[in-house]
Amino acid sequence: MKIKNICCIGAGYVGGPTMAVIADNCPSIKVEVVDINKDRIRKWNDKNLKNLPIYEPGLAEIIKRCRGVNLHFSDQVKEKIQNADMIFISVNTPTKKKGLGAGKASDLQWVEESARQVAQYSNGHTIVVEKSTLPVRTAEVIQEILMSAASDKAGNEISFNVLSNPEFLAEGTAIQDLEKPDRVLIGGDNRDAMNALKEIYSNWVPKEKILFTNIWSSELAKLTANAFLAQRISSINSIAALCEATGADVREVSRAIGTDSRIGSKFLDSGPGFGGSCFKKDILNLVYLAEYFGLNEVANFWESVVKLNNWHQNRISELIVKKLFGTVTGKKIVVLGFAFKANTNDTRESAAIQICKDLIDQGAEITIHDPKVNESQIEKDLQMKQKRELEDSTENILLSKAGNWKFSKSLFDIFNNVHAVLMLTEWDEYKNIDWDEVSKKMVRPAWVFDSRSIIEKKNIINTKLNLWRVGDGTDE
Ligand code: NAD
Ligand code: UGA
Repeated sequence: MKIKNICCIGAGYVGGPTMAVIADNCPSIKVEVVDINKDRIRKWNDKNLKNLPIYEPGLAEIIKRCRGVNLHFSDQVKEKIQNADMIFISVNTPTKKKGLGAGKASDLQWVEESARQVAQYSNGHTIVVEKSTLPVRTAEVIQEILMSAASDKAGNEISFNVLSNPEFLAEGTAIQDLEKPDRVLIGGDNRDAMNALKEIYSNWVPKEKILFTNIWSSELAKLTANAFLAQRISSINSIAALCEATGADVREVSRAIGTDSRIGSKFLDSGPGFGGSCFKKDILNLVYLAEYFGLNEVANFWESVVKLNNWHQNRISELIVKKLFGTVTGKKIVVLGFAFKANTNDTRESAAIQICKDLIDQGAEITIHDPKVNESQIEKDLQMKQKRELEDSTENILLSKAGNWKFSKSLFDIFNNVHAVLMLTEWDEYKNIDWDEVSKKMVRPAWVFDSRSIIEKKNIINTKLNLWRVGDGTDE
Protein backbone atom coordinates (compact mmCIF):
# COMPACT_ATOMS: atom_id res chain seq x y z
CA MET A 1 0.00 0.00 0.00
CA LYS A 2 1.76 3.19 -1.10
CA ILE A 3 0.37 6.34 0.47
CA LYS A 4 0.05 9.35 -1.85
CA ASN A 5 -2.47 11.60 -0.09
CA ILE A 6 -2.56 12.29 3.63
CA CYS A 7 -5.21 14.30 5.41
CA CYS A 8 -4.75 15.39 9.03
CA ILE A 9 -7.84 16.43 10.96
CA GLY A 10 -6.71 19.04 13.49
CA ALA A 11 -4.15 21.78 12.83
CA GLY A 12 -3.01 22.26 16.42
CA TYR A 13 0.26 21.90 18.32
CA VAL A 14 0.53 18.30 17.12
CA GLY A 15 -1.21 18.27 13.73
CA GLY A 16 0.64 21.34 12.37
CA PRO A 17 4.28 20.48 13.20
CA THR A 18 3.85 16.70 12.66
CA MET A 19 2.42 17.11 9.18
CA ALA A 20 5.00 19.78 8.32
CA VAL A 21 7.80 17.31 9.12
CA ILE A 22 6.11 14.50 7.15
CA ALA A 23 5.67 16.81 4.13
CA ASP A 24 9.27 17.99 4.39
CA ASN A 25 10.64 14.45 4.44
CA CYS A 26 8.23 12.91 1.91
CA PRO A 27 8.09 15.15 -1.17
CA SER A 28 6.04 12.56 -3.11
CA ILE A 29 3.18 12.68 -0.56
CA LYS A 30 0.58 15.43 -0.67
CA VAL A 31 -0.31 16.48 2.89
CA GLU A 32 -3.53 18.36 3.64
CA VAL A 33 -4.10 19.68 7.17
CA VAL A 34 -7.71 20.61 7.92
CA ASP A 35 -9.36 22.31 10.86
CA ILE A 36 -12.82 23.62 11.69
CA ASN A 37 -11.16 26.63 13.29
CA LYS A 38 -11.01 29.03 10.31
CA ASP A 39 -8.92 31.57 12.19
CA ARG A 40 -6.24 28.96 12.90
CA ILE A 41 -6.17 27.94 9.22
CA ARG A 42 -5.92 31.60 8.17
CA LYS A 43 -2.88 31.97 10.44
CA TRP A 44 -1.25 28.80 9.05
CA ASN A 45 -1.68 30.35 5.58
CA ASP A 46 -0.46 33.83 6.59
CA LYS A 47 2.28 35.12 4.27
CA ASN A 48 4.10 36.55 7.27
CA LEU A 49 5.59 33.50 8.98
CA LYS A 50 5.71 35.42 12.27
CA ASN A 51 1.92 35.05 12.37
CA LEU A 52 1.80 31.24 12.36
CA PRO A 53 -0.57 30.10 15.14
CA ILE A 54 2.15 28.12 16.88
CA TYR A 55 5.64 29.15 17.84
CA GLU A 56 8.17 26.33 17.58
CA PRO A 57 11.85 26.79 16.80
CA GLY A 58 12.49 25.58 13.22
CA LEU A 59 8.80 25.36 12.24
CA ALA A 60 8.63 28.55 10.15
CA GLU A 61 11.56 27.38 7.98
CA ILE A 62 9.76 24.11 7.14
CA ILE A 63 6.50 25.91 6.41
CA LYS A 64 8.40 28.23 4.09
CA ARG A 65 9.84 25.25 2.19
CA CYS A 66 6.70 23.10 1.95
CA ARG A 67 3.60 25.27 2.16
CA GLY A 68 1.86 25.44 -1.20
CA VAL A 69 4.19 22.70 -2.54
CA ASN A 70 3.08 19.44 -0.87
CA LEU A 71 1.72 20.88 2.40
CA HIS A 72 -1.62 22.67 2.49
CA PHE A 73 -3.82 24.08 5.24
CA SER A 74 -7.56 24.28 4.67
CA ASP A 75 -10.98 24.38 6.31
CA GLN A 76 -12.48 22.20 3.54
CA VAL A 77 -12.72 19.10 5.74
CA LYS A 78 -15.07 17.11 3.49
CA GLU A 79 -13.12 17.55 0.26
CA LYS A 80 -9.74 16.72 1.81
CA ILE A 81 -11.08 13.59 3.52
CA GLN A 82 -12.50 12.40 0.19
CA ASN A 83 -9.09 12.55 -1.49
CA ALA A 84 -7.03 10.93 1.27
CA ASP A 85 -5.78 7.36 1.51
CA MET A 86 -4.45 7.92 5.04
CA ILE A 87 -6.17 10.13 7.62
CA PHE A 88 -4.59 11.23 10.90
CA ILE A 89 -6.95 12.23 13.70
CA SER A 90 -5.09 14.87 15.67
CA VAL A 91 -7.87 16.70 17.46
CA ASN A 92 -8.05 17.88 21.06
CA THR A 93 -8.94 15.38 23.83
CA PRO A 94 -9.33 17.52 26.98
CA THR A 95 -10.65 16.32 30.33
CA LYS A 96 -14.43 16.04 30.37
CA LYS A 97 -16.10 19.01 32.10
CA LYS A 98 -19.50 17.42 32.67
CA GLY A 99 -21.35 14.14 32.56
CA LEU A 100 -20.02 10.66 33.23
CA GLY A 101 -16.36 10.76 34.24
CA ALA A 102 -16.30 14.58 34.50
CA GLY A 103 -13.00 15.91 35.87
CA LYS A 104 -11.03 12.81 34.91
CA ALA A 105 -12.10 11.01 31.72
CA SER A 106 -11.13 12.36 28.29
CA ASP A 107 -13.77 14.21 26.35
CA LEU A 108 -13.88 12.30 23.08
CA GLN A 109 -16.52 14.39 21.32
CA TRP A 110 -14.01 15.80 18.80
CA VAL A 111 -12.56 12.36 18.07
CA GLU A 112 -16.04 10.95 17.58
CA GLU A 113 -16.99 13.82 15.28
CA SER A 114 -13.81 13.29 13.24
CA ALA A 115 -14.56 9.57 12.89
CA ARG A 116 -18.08 10.40 11.73
CA GLN A 117 -16.72 12.82 9.14
CA VAL A 118 -14.32 10.16 7.87
CA ALA A 119 -17.14 7.58 7.74
CA GLN A 120 -19.31 10.02 5.81
CA TYR A 121 -16.87 11.40 3.25
CA SER A 122 -14.10 8.87 2.60
CA ASN A 123 -14.07 6.45 -0.31
CA GLY A 124 -12.21 3.27 -1.27
CA HIS A 125 -9.81 1.97 1.36
CA THR A 126 -8.63 4.39 4.04
CA ILE A 127 -6.12 3.94 6.86
CA VAL A 128 -7.23 5.94 9.89
CA VAL A 129 -4.45 6.83 12.33
CA GLU A 130 -5.07 7.90 15.93
CA LYS A 131 -2.54 10.65 16.55
CA SER A 132 -4.43 12.21 19.47
CA THR A 133 -3.74 10.79 22.94
CA LEU A 134 -6.65 8.50 23.73
CA PRO A 135 -7.92 6.19 26.44
CA VAL A 136 -7.22 2.50 25.91
CA ARG A 137 -9.72 0.87 23.54
CA THR A 138 -10.77 4.09 21.78
CA ALA A 139 -9.78 2.44 18.51
CA GLU A 140 -12.74 0.14 19.06
CA VAL A 141 -15.10 3.15 19.14
CA ILE A 142 -13.54 4.63 16.01
CA GLN A 143 -13.75 1.27 14.24
CA GLU A 144 -17.42 0.93 15.15
CA ILE A 145 -18.27 4.37 13.79
CA LEU A 146 -16.32 3.71 10.60
CA MET A 147 -17.94 0.31 10.08
CA SER A 148 -21.36 1.93 10.21
CA ALA A 149 -20.50 3.34 6.78
CA ALA A 150 -20.13 0.29 4.58
CA SER A 151 -20.44 2.16 1.31
CA ASP A 152 -19.85 5.66 -0.06
CA LYS A 153 -22.50 7.99 -1.52
CA ALA A 154 -22.35 6.26 -4.92
CA GLY A 155 -22.92 2.86 -3.29
CA ASN A 156 -19.31 1.69 -3.74
CA GLU A 157 -17.92 -0.43 -0.90
CA ILE A 158 -15.55 1.36 1.47
CA SER A 159 -13.16 -0.09 4.06
CA PHE A 160 -10.85 1.04 6.84
CA ASN A 161 -7.93 0.03 9.02
CA VAL A 162 -7.44 1.79 12.34
CA LEU A 163 -3.92 2.31 13.71
CA SER A 164 -2.62 3.95 16.86
CA ASN A 165 0.41 6.19 16.35
CA PRO A 166 0.71 8.37 19.46
CA GLU A 167 2.84 11.48 19.37
CA PHE A 168 5.67 11.97 21.88
CA LEU A 169 6.86 15.44 20.83
CA ALA A 170 7.35 18.04 23.53
CA GLU A 171 6.49 21.67 22.84
CA GLY A 172 9.44 23.97 22.33
CA THR A 173 11.45 21.09 20.84
CA ALA A 174 8.72 19.73 18.57
CA ILE A 175 10.68 19.88 15.31
CA GLN A 176 13.78 18.35 16.83
CA ASP A 177 11.68 15.60 18.48
CA LEU A 178 9.90 14.86 15.20
CA GLU A 179 13.10 14.85 13.15
CA LYS A 180 14.97 12.61 15.58
CA PRO A 181 12.40 10.72 17.66
CA ASP A 182 13.50 8.26 20.37
CA ARG A 183 10.95 5.93 18.81
CA VAL A 184 7.88 5.89 16.60
CA LEU A 185 5.13 3.68 17.95
CA ILE A 186 2.66 1.99 15.61
CA GLY A 187 -0.12 -0.10 17.15
CA GLY A 188 -2.45 -2.16 15.02
CA ASP A 189 -3.62 -5.55 13.88
CA ASN A 190 -3.19 -5.24 10.14
CA ARG A 191 0.41 -5.64 8.95
CA ASP A 192 -0.17 -4.03 5.54
CA ALA A 193 -1.57 -0.88 7.11
CA MET A 194 1.19 -0.83 9.75
CA ASN A 195 3.85 -1.22 7.05
CA ALA A 196 2.30 1.57 4.98
CA LEU A 197 2.70 3.95 7.93
CA LYS A 198 6.17 2.58 8.70
CA GLU A 199 7.22 3.30 5.11
CA ILE A 200 6.34 6.98 5.57
CA TYR A 201 8.44 7.34 8.74
CA SER A 202 11.27 5.30 7.20
CA ASN A 203 11.99 8.28 4.96
CA TRP A 204 13.85 9.85 7.90
CA VAL A 205 13.58 7.63 11.00
CA PRO A 206 15.95 4.61 11.33
CA LYS A 207 13.89 1.40 10.98
CA GLU A 208 14.99 0.00 14.35
CA LYS A 209 13.32 2.98 16.04
CA ILE A 210 9.91 2.16 14.58
CA LEU A 211 8.15 -0.15 17.03
CA PHE A 212 5.12 -2.33 16.30
CA THR A 213 2.73 -3.27 19.14
CA ASN A 214 -0.87 -4.28 19.44
CA ILE A 215 -3.27 -1.36 19.36
CA TRP A 216 -4.13 -1.35 23.09
CA SER A 217 -0.47 -1.40 24.16
CA SER A 218 0.18 1.57 21.91
CA GLU A 219 -2.71 3.59 23.36
CA LEU A 220 -1.69 2.71 26.93
CA ALA A 221 2.02 3.33 26.32
CA LYS A 222 1.31 6.97 25.48
CA LEU A 223 -0.61 7.60 28.71
CA THR A 224 2.05 5.71 30.66
CA ALA A 225 4.93 7.70 29.18
CA ASN A 226 3.32 10.99 30.21
CA ALA A 227 2.43 9.65 33.66
CA PHE A 228 6.04 8.50 34.27
CA LEU A 229 7.46 11.85 33.12
CA ALA A 230 5.05 13.86 35.29
CA GLN A 231 5.74 11.55 38.22
CA ARG A 232 9.45 12.40 38.04
CA ILE A 233 8.62 16.11 38.27
CA SER A 234 6.33 15.66 41.26
CA SER A 235 8.99 13.47 42.87
CA ILE A 236 11.73 16.06 42.49
CA ASN A 237 9.41 18.92 43.53
CA SER A 238 8.54 17.01 46.71
CA ILE A 239 12.27 16.67 47.42
CA ALA A 240 12.74 20.40 46.70
CA ALA A 241 10.46 21.22 49.62
CA LEU A 242 12.48 18.88 51.80
CA CYS A 243 15.73 20.50 50.62
CA GLU A 244 14.43 23.93 51.63
CA ALA A 245 13.55 22.56 55.07
CA THR A 246 16.84 20.77 55.65
CA GLY A 247 19.58 22.92 54.12
CA ALA A 248 20.11 20.72 51.06
CA ASP A 249 20.08 21.96 47.46
CA VAL A 250 17.77 20.14 45.05
CA ARG A 251 20.08 20.79 42.12
CA GLU A 252 22.86 18.93 43.91
CA VAL A 253 20.47 16.13 44.83
CA SER A 254 19.28 15.89 41.18
CA ARG A 255 22.85 15.73 39.95
CA ALA A 256 23.74 13.09 42.50
CA ILE A 257 20.82 10.80 41.72
CA GLY A 258 20.83 11.53 37.98
CA THR A 259 24.28 10.00 37.56
CA ASP A 260 22.79 6.63 38.52
CA SER A 261 22.21 5.21 35.05
CA ARG A 262 19.09 3.44 36.29
CA ILE A 263 17.56 6.80 37.24
CA GLY A 264 19.01 9.02 34.47
CA SER A 265 19.50 12.77 34.56
CA LYS A 266 16.55 14.05 32.50
CA PHE A 267 13.35 15.46 33.94
CA LEU A 268 14.85 16.13 37.35
CA ASP A 269 14.65 19.95 37.30
CA SER A 270 12.53 21.27 40.11
CA GLY A 271 10.28 24.10 38.90
CA PRO A 272 6.96 25.80 39.66
CA GLY A 273 5.05 22.56 38.99
CA PHE A 274 4.40 20.91 35.66
CA GLY A 275 2.05 22.59 33.21
CA GLY A 276 1.13 21.97 29.60
CA SER A 277 -2.02 20.64 28.03
CA CYS A 278 -1.32 16.97 28.55
CA PHE A 279 0.36 15.77 31.76
CA LYS A 280 -2.56 16.51 34.06
CA LYS A 281 -5.26 15.37 31.65
CA ASP A 282 -3.43 12.18 30.70
CA ILE A 283 -2.78 11.19 34.31
CA LEU A 284 -6.40 11.90 35.22
CA ASN A 285 -7.40 9.76 32.27
CA LEU A 286 -5.23 6.94 33.62
CA VAL A 287 -6.80 7.43 37.06
CA TYR A 288 -10.25 7.18 35.50
CA LEU A 289 -9.34 3.99 33.66
CA ALA A 290 -7.91 2.41 36.82
CA GLU A 291 -11.05 3.33 38.77
CA TYR A 292 -13.22 1.98 35.96
CA PHE A 293 -11.46 -1.37 36.22
CA GLY A 294 -11.75 -1.35 40.04
CA LEU A 295 -8.01 -0.78 40.60
CA ASN A 296 -8.38 1.85 43.31
CA GLU A 297 -4.82 1.61 44.67
CA VAL A 298 -3.48 2.16 41.16
CA ALA A 299 -5.81 5.14 40.73
CA ASN A 300 -4.73 6.66 44.06
CA PHE A 301 -1.06 6.20 43.25
CA TRP A 302 -1.29 8.18 40.00
CA GLU A 303 -3.70 10.78 41.36
CA SER A 304 -1.12 11.68 44.02
CA VAL A 305 1.17 12.94 41.23
CA VAL A 306 -1.42 15.59 40.31
CA LYS A 307 -2.19 16.40 43.96
CA LEU A 308 1.48 16.99 44.73
CA ASN A 309 1.71 19.29 41.70
CA ASN A 310 -1.24 21.41 42.91
CA TRP A 311 0.20 21.53 46.42
CA HIS A 312 3.59 22.63 45.09
CA GLN A 313 2.09 25.53 43.07
CA ASN A 314 0.15 26.72 46.14
CA ARG A 315 3.27 26.39 48.25
CA ILE A 316 5.09 28.86 45.98
CA SER A 317 2.41 31.56 46.11
CA GLU A 318 2.06 31.17 49.88
CA LEU A 319 5.79 31.38 50.36
CA ILE A 320 5.98 34.63 48.35
CA VAL A 321 3.32 36.22 50.55
CA LYS A 322 5.10 35.06 53.72
CA LYS A 323 8.47 36.43 52.61
CA LEU A 324 6.84 39.77 51.73
CA PHE A 325 5.91 40.28 55.40
CA GLY A 326 2.63 38.38 55.18
CA THR A 327 0.89 40.64 52.68
CA VAL A 328 1.14 41.55 49.00
CA THR A 329 -1.73 44.04 48.98
CA GLY A 330 -0.68 47.04 46.89
CA LYS A 331 2.78 45.55 46.30
CA LYS A 332 4.25 45.54 42.81
CA ILE A 333 5.49 42.20 41.54
CA VAL A 334 7.11 41.53 38.16
CA VAL A 335 6.35 38.08 36.74
CA LEU A 336 8.92 36.83 34.25
CA GLY A 337 7.38 34.26 31.93
CA PHE A 338 3.83 33.04 31.48
CA ALA A 339 4.26 30.09 29.06
CA PHE A 340 4.27 26.66 30.71
CA LYS A 341 7.88 26.22 29.62
CA ALA A 342 10.42 28.09 27.48
CA ASN A 343 10.34 28.19 23.66
CA THR A 344 6.59 27.93 23.29
CA ASN A 345 3.70 30.40 23.29
CA ASP A 346 1.43 27.77 24.89
CA THR A 347 0.02 28.67 28.31
CA ARG A 348 -2.31 25.71 28.85
CA GLU A 349 -2.15 24.59 32.52
CA SER A 350 0.86 26.86 33.04
CA ALA A 351 1.79 27.16 36.72
CA ALA A 352 1.85 30.92 36.07
CA ILE A 353 -1.95 31.01 35.80
CA GLN A 354 -2.68 29.77 39.32
CA ILE A 355 0.24 31.57 40.94
CA CYS A 356 -0.69 34.94 39.33
CA LYS A 357 -4.37 34.48 40.21
CA ASP A 358 -3.43 33.76 43.84
CA LEU A 359 -1.25 36.87 44.07
CA ILE A 360 -3.82 39.12 42.37
CA ASP A 361 -6.52 37.75 44.69
CA GLN A 362 -4.40 38.85 47.59
CA GLY A 363 -4.08 42.38 46.23
CA ALA A 364 -0.77 42.35 44.36
CA GLU A 365 -0.18 44.60 41.33
CA ILE A 366 1.46 42.37 38.81
CA THR A 367 3.37 43.19 35.63
CA ILE A 368 3.72 40.17 33.39
CA HIS A 369 6.39 39.76 30.73
CA ASP A 370 6.71 36.89 28.26
CA PRO A 371 8.61 36.98 24.97
CA LYS A 372 6.05 34.89 23.05
CA VAL A 373 2.73 34.88 24.89
CA ASN A 374 0.42 37.75 23.94
CA GLU A 375 -1.67 39.82 26.31
CA SER A 376 -5.05 38.62 25.03
CA GLN A 377 -4.07 35.03 25.89
CA ILE A 378 -3.09 36.09 29.43
CA GLU A 379 -6.40 37.91 29.76
CA LYS A 380 -8.25 34.71 28.83
CA ASP A 381 -6.19 32.61 31.24
CA LEU A 382 -6.57 34.96 34.20
CA GLN A 383 -10.20 35.70 33.29
CA MET A 384 -9.55 39.31 34.11
CA LYS A 385 -8.95 42.44 32.02
CA GLN A 386 -5.64 44.15 32.46
CA LYS A 387 -5.38 47.33 34.48
CA ARG A 388 -4.76 49.71 31.56
CA GLU A 389 -8.22 49.02 30.15
CA LEU A 390 -9.95 49.62 33.48
CA GLU A 391 -8.11 52.81 34.36
CA ASP A 392 -10.71 55.27 33.09
CA SER A 393 -13.77 53.35 34.09
CA THR A 394 -15.76 53.83 37.27
CA GLU A 395 -15.24 50.12 37.84
CA ASN A 396 -11.65 50.94 38.59
CA ILE A 397 -12.55 52.99 41.64
CA LEU A 398 -14.16 49.89 43.12
CA LEU A 399 -11.19 47.78 42.11
CA SER A 400 -8.53 50.17 43.38
CA LYS A 401 -8.00 48.10 46.50
CA ALA A 402 -8.03 44.81 44.60
CA GLY A 403 -5.05 43.32 42.86
CA ASN A 404 -4.53 43.75 39.14
CA TRP A 405 -2.22 42.88 36.28
CA LYS A 406 -0.75 44.49 33.21
CA PHE A 407 1.40 43.24 30.39
CA SER A 408 4.79 44.54 29.36
CA LYS A 409 6.32 43.73 25.99
CA SER A 410 9.79 44.72 27.06
CA LEU A 411 11.99 44.28 30.11
CA PHE A 412 13.07 47.90 29.92
CA ASP A 413 11.74 49.94 32.88
CA ILE A 414 9.69 47.04 34.12
CA PHE A 415 11.54 46.86 37.47
CA ASN A 416 10.99 50.46 38.64
CA ASN A 417 9.65 50.57 42.20
CA VAL A 418 8.76 46.90 42.38
CA HIS A 419 8.88 44.86 45.57
CA ALA A 420 9.56 41.48 44.06
CA VAL A 421 10.45 39.67 40.84
CA LEU A 422 9.08 36.19 40.25
CA MET A 423 10.72 33.96 37.63
CA LEU A 424 8.24 31.42 36.29
CA THR A 425 9.47 30.42 32.81
CA GLU A 426 13.08 29.61 32.01
CA TRP A 427 13.43 31.81 28.88
CA ASP A 428 17.07 32.32 27.86
CA GLU A 429 16.76 36.11 27.92
CA TYR A 430 16.05 36.00 31.67
CA LYS A 431 19.38 34.29 32.27
CA ASN A 432 21.27 37.44 31.26
CA ILE A 433 19.45 39.99 33.41
CA ASP A 434 21.82 42.42 35.11
CA TRP A 435 20.61 42.04 38.70
CA ASP A 436 22.91 44.78 39.90
CA GLU A 437 21.08 47.28 37.65
CA VAL A 438 17.68 45.81 38.56
CA SER A 439 18.31 46.10 42.28
CA LYS A 440 18.94 49.86 41.93
CA LYS A 441 15.43 50.29 40.50
CA MET A 442 13.53 48.20 43.04
CA VAL A 443 12.22 49.30 46.42
CA ARG A 444 14.05 48.05 49.52
CA PRO A 445 13.91 45.42 50.88
CA ALA A 446 13.26 43.58 47.63
CA TRP A 447 12.97 39.91 46.74
CA VAL A 448 13.73 37.76 43.73
CA PHE A 449 11.82 34.46 43.66
CA ASP A 450 13.34 32.05 41.19
CA SER A 451 11.01 29.08 40.70
CA ARG A 452 13.24 27.69 37.93
CA SER A 453 16.53 27.98 39.75
CA ILE A 454 18.20 29.68 36.76
CA ILE A 455 19.72 32.66 38.57
CA GLU A 456 23.31 32.14 39.63
CA LYS A 457 23.83 33.18 43.23
CA LYS A 458 27.09 34.90 42.34
CA ASN A 459 25.15 37.32 40.11
CA ILE A 460 23.02 38.47 42.99
CA ILE A 461 25.32 38.21 45.99
CA ASN A 462 26.61 41.80 45.73
CA THR A 463 23.22 43.34 45.13
CA LYS A 464 20.88 44.29 47.95
CA LEU A 465 18.35 41.72 46.75
CA ASN A 466 17.03 38.79 48.74
CA LEU A 467 16.98 35.60 46.68
CA TRP A 468 14.75 32.54 47.02
CA ARG A 469 15.37 29.65 44.66
CA VAL A 470 13.19 26.57 44.50
CA GLY A 471 14.74 23.70 46.42
CA ASP A 472 17.66 25.74 47.70
CA GLY A 473 17.83 25.39 51.46
CA THR A 474 21.46 26.43 51.75
CA ASP A 475 20.70 29.94 53.07
CA GLU A 476 18.03 29.04 55.55
P1 NAD B 1 -5.03 21.61 19.83
O1 NAD B 1 -6.21 21.99 20.63
O2 NAD B 1 -3.88 22.54 19.68
O3 NAD B 1 -5.50 21.25 18.33
C1 NAD B 1 -6.59 20.45 18.02
C2 NAD B 1 -7.28 21.03 16.79
O4 NAD B 1 -8.29 20.14 16.35
C3 NAD B 1 -7.99 22.37 17.07
O5 NAD B 1 -7.45 23.38 16.23
C4 NAD B 1 -9.46 22.08 16.73
O6 NAD B 1 -10.14 23.16 16.13
C5 NAD B 1 -9.34 20.91 15.77
N1 NAD B 1 -10.57 20.12 15.65
C6 NAD B 1 -11.35 19.63 16.63
N2 NAD B 1 -12.37 18.92 16.10
C7 NAD B 1 -12.24 18.97 14.75
C8 NAD B 1 -12.98 18.42 13.67
N3 NAD B 1 -14.07 17.67 13.87
N4 NAD B 1 -12.57 18.68 12.40
C9 NAD B 1 -11.46 19.44 12.18
N5 NAD B 1 -10.73 19.97 13.17
C10 NAD B 1 -11.09 19.74 14.46
O7 NAD B 1 -4.53 20.22 20.42
P2 NAD B 1 -3.04 19.62 20.37
O8 NAD B 1 -2.20 20.21 21.43
O9 NAD B 1 -2.57 19.63 18.95
O10 NAD B 1 -3.34 18.11 20.82
C11 NAD B 1 -4.02 17.22 19.97
C12 NAD B 1 -3.89 15.82 20.56
O11 NAD B 1 -2.51 15.43 20.59
C13 NAD B 1 -4.40 15.68 21.99
O12 NAD B 1 -4.98 14.39 22.13
C14 NAD B 1 -3.14 15.74 22.83
O13 NAD B 1 -3.26 15.03 24.04
C15 NAD B 1 -2.12 15.06 21.94
N6 NAD B 1 -0.73 15.49 22.14
C16 NAD B 1 -0.44 16.81 22.32
C17 NAD B 1 0.90 17.19 22.45
C18 NAD B 1 1.28 18.64 22.65
O14 NAD B 1 2.45 18.90 22.85
N7 NAD B 1 0.37 19.59 22.59
C19 NAD B 1 1.92 16.23 22.36
C20 NAD B 1 1.56 14.90 22.14
C21 NAD B 1 0.24 14.53 22.02
C1 UGA C 1 5.12 16.40 27.37
C2 UGA C 1 6.03 15.20 27.09
O1 UGA C 1 7.38 15.55 27.41
C3 UGA C 1 5.93 14.77 25.63
O2 UGA C 1 6.70 13.60 25.41
C4 UGA C 1 4.47 14.49 25.29
O3 UGA C 1 4.34 14.14 23.92
C5 UGA C 1 3.63 15.72 25.59
O4 UGA C 1 3.79 16.09 26.99
C6 UGA C 1 2.17 15.52 25.37
O5 UGA C 1 1.69 14.42 25.34
O6 UGA C 1 1.54 16.57 25.28
P1 UGA C 1 5.28 19.01 27.00
O7 UGA C 1 4.12 19.07 27.91
O8 UGA C 1 5.20 19.74 25.72
O9 UGA C 1 5.60 17.49 26.62
O10 UGA C 1 6.57 19.55 27.73
P2 UGA C 1 7.59 18.94 28.82
O11 UGA C 1 8.95 19.28 28.40
O12 UGA C 1 7.32 17.52 29.10
O13 UGA C 1 7.25 19.81 30.10
C7 UGA C 1 6.04 19.67 30.80
C8 UGA C 1 6.09 20.51 32.07
O14 UGA C 1 7.01 19.95 33.00
C9 UGA C 1 6.54 21.95 31.85
O15 UGA C 1 5.77 22.81 32.65
C10 UGA C 1 8.00 21.94 32.28
O16 UGA C 1 8.46 23.19 32.70
C11 UGA C 1 7.94 20.94 33.43
N1 UGA C 1 9.24 20.30 33.70
C12 UGA C 1 9.84 19.51 32.78
C13 UGA C 1 9.83 20.50 34.94
O17 UGA C 1 9.30 21.21 35.81
N2 UGA C 1 11.03 19.88 35.19
C14 UGA C 1 11.65 19.08 34.29
O18 UGA C 1 12.74 18.54 34.60
C15 UGA C 1 11.04 18.89 33.04
